[in-house]
Amino acid sequence: MNKPFIYIANWKLNVSYAQAQEFLTIQDNLVHTNKQIIVCPTFPLLPIMQQQLAEQIQLGAQNCSNFTKGSYTGEVDAQTLNAVGCAYCIVGHSERRTLFGETDEMITQKVALLIKNNITPIVCVGEQHKSTTVQTQEYLAQQLNKLNLDSYKQNSLIIAYEPSWAIGGGKLPDITDITTIIEWLQNYCADNQLIHTKIVYGGSVDEGNIVALKQIASLDGVIIGSASADFQKLINIVSL
Ligand code: 13P
Repeated sequence: MNKPFIYIANWKLNVSYAQAQEFLTIQDNLVHTNKQIIVCPTFPLLPIMQQQLAEQIQLGAQNCSNFTKGSYTGEVDAQTLNAVGCAYCIVGHSERRTLFGETDEMITQKVALLIKNNITPIVCVGEQHKSTTVQTQEYLAQQLNKLNLDSYKQNSLIIAYEPSWAIGGGKLPDITDITTIIEWLQNYCADNQLIHTKIVYGGSVDEGNIVALKQIASLDGVIIGSASADFQKLINIVSL
């Protein structure tokens, strides 16, 4: 059997408590053979989701602290995320980098803490502005080289390629450009012996482009933002 295609629903701050309850009533529509679904709600929703999620759907957080304990008001640590059932956690999302000042150093610390707590990091990288392929590759190499991923050759990782300019606006890059970058990322992982690393794409994924994206042979999955908060759209995306 082929490896399952991965669908990560990044709900951001778009799904309320009441909507998450509604999700639990329709979640069975997302369960398909050979498709892996990971849902990433806000922190307070994690325990209730963990209790009621279908066995085939996995839970992820959208962020974690780069600290383990201490006077860090508002932070949530990786150990607690593990305790409430998170198997995955997004780190370094471009919204966290640009709106909340998350640095490469913080992302490096978060990745280390997640791995230590048996949570697979979903590490987001991507260029800020539309660039040439070579510029994008240079930018991604710089971002990735700072994250010390070399230390995790034995661990599962997901790298999410999310060009910031393609997020939230319906501006999907050309499929050929995405293909080139995904192949480059697969080569980067091979060169660094990151043999358990998967590569997903994020940025304006919807019902209109999922079929084309799935045709990229080297792509392991997608991370879906706004469309994942519309559950009928999410069901359609996963079923296509
Ligand atoms: P959109 O799907 O809304 O463009 O967001 C993508 C994203 O940020 C996923 O992490």
